[in-house]
Amino acid sequence: QQVEPFDYIIFGATGDLTMRKLLPALYNKLRLGQVPADARIIGTARTTLDRDAYIARARDALQHFIPAKFLFPNLLEQFLGMISYVTLDGTSADSNWGELAAELSSSPASRIRVFYFATAPQLYEAICANLHAKEILTPESRVVLEKPIGTSLETADAINEGVGKFLPEKQIYRIDHYLGKETVQNVLALRFANPLLNAIWSAEHIKSVQITAAEVVGVEGRASYYDTSGALRDMIQNHLLQVLCLVAMEQPETLEADCVRNAKLAVLKALRPIKEDQVANETVRAQYTKGAVDDHAVPGYLEELGQDSNTETYAAVRTWVDTPRWKDVPFYIRTAKRSKRKVSEIVIQFRETAQSLFGAVPGNRLVIRVQPNEGVELNLNVKNPILDEYQLETVKLDAPIKVEGGPFPDSYERLLLDAVRGNPILFIRRDEVDAAWVWAESILNAWADKKAPMHSYAAGSYGPDAAKALLAEHGDRWHEDM
Ligand code: BG6
Repeated sequence: QQVEPFDYIIFGATGDLTMRKLLPALYNKLRLGQVPADARIIGTARTTLDRDAYIARARDALQHFIPAKFLFPNLLEQFLGMISYVTLDGTSADSNWGELAAELSSSPASRIRVFYFATAPQLYEAICANLHAKEILTPESRVVLEKPIGTSLETADAINEGVGKFLPEKQIYRIDHYLGKETVQNVLALRFANPLLNAIWSAEHIKSVQITAAEVVGVEGRASYYDTSGALRDMIQNHLLQVLCLVAMEQPETLEADCVRNAKLAVLKALRPIKEDQVANETVRAQYTKGAVDDHAVPGYLEELGQDSNTETYAAVRTWVDTPRWKDVPFYIRTAKRSKRKVSEIVIQFRETAQSLFGAVPGNRLVIRVQPNEGVELNLNVKNPILDEYQLETVKLDAPIKVEGGPFPDSYERLLLDAVRGNPILFIRRDEVDAAWVWAESILNAWADKKAPMHSYAAGSYGPDAAKALLAEHGDRWHEDM
């Protein structure tokens, strides 16, 4: 289970992602015995800090983000002992590269190096250029690119071309943390390890699919970034399309990374393009206005931003996968900030049986709870036990997915070590990024040109009414209305 010794070099090591996700994930992997004792983590950032000051920040972060019962004092010290820090401007050729090279040279030359870019994507090419020029990239090096990979096909291409000048595709790991979620990985197991589900996973039995990622948080301190992105770019072009791919793809021949990625790519290419003049019919976008979450009054998006904006904090899209398996099955994808509750889930609505012994009976429903309260539930029609005559009622089979005695693994945990293992199965290939942008762009263009109305919804609600109408046209309802 233990991976080979590695050096993890993090660019953006003082940032929120490193403190909140990357260091806790590596600590958890050490706790689980998967990180060898001589592995090293080298943080770099422009902030001038000495090692002690950086370690103090790392310690604070772990104390904050790891539950006390899993933060063992000896292990914490061991983990902190693996960390060093180099003050470095990754984009400047004159920066402290000598110190980074010296740090790395104390490891054997053949050691795996993972360069994790937790910085703005516009910097990736310049950092790679410097790593190359300073001869820090080795054949055993890989770079991990955080999202967003661009804001359009063109800008994504520029980033991919830029990084691709210095590394071949097989050394480039584009992270999508949704693929790291256990419950998302589980979609393949549920579909392909259960003949019961596999046999009915098609238009013949499935009426519609909905994929939701809703959050209670607003845009917090990120309003200025978020306003350049919006819900479609932030969540749908990447995370939710990836989930859709896993739900819709044909069975890959093997679990080899490129087999799975080919199967996902085929779905992305089969997504029916939404022409700009159809965008108003096929999508709903909205901004939250002031409201209340968890009994606290919160301001609206425009108030937080302090100016007018054409950026959506809610997006719902009706899309179709044009393959025989999914003929005429609508896929509804939605995401929201400041929703009533935090929920990421996949709802598979099976068709109702019009004629059975019992007349018309409701369709079964499978819900994959991605987070929180991870699990799978299935609605079944059974005979009501009180009545003598046959009358049906619906019961719910509920299988929680949990880890006995441990915290549920965070999405970054497996991903960080898969990069060390050299297994890109849960990372996005360049052609997937492109195909996802091709699909998303017509929506984004139509929205930019205000060809679809900007609806509003009160913070703390499930979203605008218009989103209900999107489903009602095909006789469907959002899960909370079922
Ligand atoms: C990130 C988005 O990729 O995913 C954030 O940029 C969002 O805006 C986050 O909050 C949601 O992730 P999760 O794992 O909490 O669903």
